[in-house]
Parts: sequence; C-alpha cells; structure tokens
Amino acid sequence: MTAIPTALKSRPAAAFDVERIRADFPILKLRVGGKPLVYLDNAASSQMPQPVIDRLVRYQATQHANIHRAVHTLSETATSEYEEARRKLARFINAREEREVIFTSGTTESINLVMHGYGRKFIGAGDEIILTTLEHHSNIVPWQMLCEEKGAKIRVAPINDAGELLVEEYEKLFNERTRFIGVMHVSNALGTINPIRHMIAFAHARGVPVLIDGAQAAPHMQVDVQDLDCDFYAFSGHKLCGPTGIGILFGKAAALERMQPFKGGGDMILSVTFEKTTYNTIPHKFEAGTPPIAAAIGLGAAVDYLSAVGMDKIAAHELDLLNHATEQLNRMPGVRIIGTAEKKAAVLSFQVEGVHPHDVGTLLNQDGVAVRTGHHCAQPVMQRFGIPATSRASFAFYNTRAEVDALIAGIRNVQKVFS
Ligand SMILES: Cc1ncc(COP(=O)(O)O)c(C=O)c1O
Repeated sequence: MTAIPTALKSRPAAAFDVERIRADFPILKLRVGGKPLVYLDNAASSQMPQPVIDRLVRYQATQHANIHRAVHTLSETATSEYEEARRKLARFINAREEREVIFTSGTTESINLVMHGYGRKFIGAGDEIILTTLEHHSNIVPWQMLCEEKGAKIRVAPINDAGELLVEEYEKLFNERTRFIGVMHVSNALGTINPIRHMIAFAHARGVPVLIDGAQAAPHMQVDVQDLDCDFYAFSGHKLCGPTGIGILFGKAAALERMQPFKGGGDMILSVTFEKTTYNTIPHKFEAGTPPIAAAIGLGAAVDYLSAVGMDKIAAHELDLLNHATEQLNRMPGVRIIGTAEKKAAVLSFQVEGVHPHDVGTLLNQDGVAVRTGHHCAQPVMQRFGIPATSRASFAFYNTRAEVDALIAGIRNVQKVFS
C-alpha cells in the first residue's frame, strides 16, 4: 500500500473552493459522448482559465505588434508587455534577475538550448553526463545526440521498485569525468518527486552543473530556483494553464553568459558584418527571431492566475486527490499502481489486470473520463518495470474528489466489460 504523505494531514483541502475555480475554466463544462467531461490528462496539457483566454484576446485585439524593433506606440506596448511577462515568470520561480528567464517554445526546446549552448561548448570526448532512469525522452535524446557528436557518455542513476531514485547509486556515478547532470523534478510517468535539492548540492560540491526538467513540478508546487540553487530549470506553458508553443529556460546569469547561442538570427545580435557578428546580451542572445509574443504574455497571465490561487493550496488540494484515488485503487483487486514513491505529485499510473491500457483509455473515454495511455515518452521507465505501457490519470487543482470517484467507477466498468 502506498503511504499517505503526512503533508496532507497538516494541510486539509477544506479552505480550497474548487467549484469557484472550476467556474473559471470554460472547457470543464463540456460533455463528451453525452457525459460530463472528467479531464484527468493534465500531465500532458492542462486547461486554460478565462482570465488567460481574455488576456490573449486583449493582446491580440489591442496590443499586437512586433517587439524590440520599432519606436511606434504599438510596438512599444507589445515590447513592454512581453518584458513584463518575463518579470512575472522570474518572480514566479524567484529568479534573482529577469534576464535569467529565456522564453522558449517549451521544456523540449529549453533542454535542447542547454545541450547546444552549454553542452556543445563545454562537454567533450570521454566526458560523462548523469541522467536518471526516470527521464522523459526530451531529457535523454538531446544528450544522446551530444554524446554521438562529441564522444561523451551517458550514465544512468537507477530507481527502486517504488520508482524512487537510488540516491547512493547516483552519488556513486560521479567521477573526475562527470561534466553535467540532467534530472527531472517530478516524474511524468510515475509522479515521483526527486530529491533534487540534495542532488544539486552533491553535484555542486564536485563542481558539476545541474539542469532540472521542471515540466511536471512548476504547475503543481512552489519552485524557488535560488533556494534549489539549480543552474538551469525548464518548463512548459501548456502544462501550467498557459498557451502551447511557450515555455521558459531559467539559467543562472553567469552560466548563460558563458554559453554559445543556440539559434542565429534577428534580435540575438548587437552588430552583424559578413566578417563578424557580435551577440546580444542575455536573455536576447537566446531569443533569435520573432518570439511567440502573445503566448509569452498569456503565460504571464497564467502564472498570475496560479499565484492568486496559491501554489501551496494547489499542492495540498492535488495531494488530497492523489491520496483519495490511491486509497481506492489500492482496494481494487486486479489493479496495480505503477509508481508508489513516498513523495509523489498528482500522477497516478496504473494497470488493470488482463486489459491493455489502450482499451482502459478507450472505455474510460466512453464515460467521459480523459486519461492518457502509453509509455508517456518515458520508455526506460516502462522497461524498468517490464511493461509496455500504463494508463495514467493526472490531476490538476480544478479536479474534484467526485471526478476521482468517476475514474474509479470507470475502472470498475472496464473490469466488468473484460470479466
Ligand atoms: C517531465 C517532462 N519533461 C519534458 C516534457 C516535454 O514537454 P514539452 O512537450 O512541452 O516540450 C514533458 C511533457 O510531457 C514532461 O512531462
């Protein structure tokens, strides 16, 4: 049985008015196949509240122009709104300076930026990069590409049967060739919350920089990059009630300044001749071309919204949902939870005995319940558990206990259909 984390007992969700919050999300009123939508695919993409939708419309209707390049009023307005969004993001993660926030298209691009900007400059033949079994493909494949190009090597920190990182094994992987660490804050496949603060401190004591993939953490808990002391932190807007096509890379200013640009083009330069180009200062050095201006401003509105709800309240409510779901699934014969870490975020991967996850997802969809099925872009995790796929319910702060109950009833129905 999965232990109920003690945090829940000290932080009941009673003060949290979920119905008022739900009223802000127009999509939650949808019906699917005649049934009320029960949206439990938030780890893939979350939904957008009306204030964020309104902000996008207002920008597009009254403020849009290209940024940074003109003196006319609209361009100045768009530029200042875009830079204001950067300030909001910096505050959201407690970055020391706003120039430490680079707008990217999302977590994947952020990690690729670090690979190209840092990895290709500072990692060479025989050097080693430590990742973990838990990583999403987007924090594996770029490093494999780098290793192929440079002759460097990936070493992998393993997990136990609960899906928890084996910290001692991680520590044993360090040697004089260790140059970089890439680790996710929260596992998208299992929900495990990694002990990243310790992992970062351990790496720093050996002079090794650390990138945190925060795609599944930033939407669900307070992130403080100064407190964590990470060198890089990446996340996506669309998992955080914001638009698609936008995300950020936080990087410590000193690291970003030492890095080479990722993409070349307009805006990332100070001067260009055919003989020589001088690059712009950070963050602009890493934002070549016209950025997704509307999406960045929308993401600024999204973090305003989340901050107004309160990240601590969000974390407590989601933990309540996770515990409610875990307790019920643990009581169901023929259902196995994959990922039973002591410290988990609101991701629940499971298997129903004798039923392919795809069939589980299809039948749940007939009940209006949206879950994800598959390998969740984490095939090494699936290999570790000897399974091809799971069904995954992932909760957001606008989900309810009644929706968890609908999931459980749906799983019972799956078992009945296949009995
Ligand atoms: C842990 C993790 N990292 C990275 C990503 C990639 O995010 P994106 O597709 O928004 O770039 C995801 C998306 O599911 C994720 O869950």
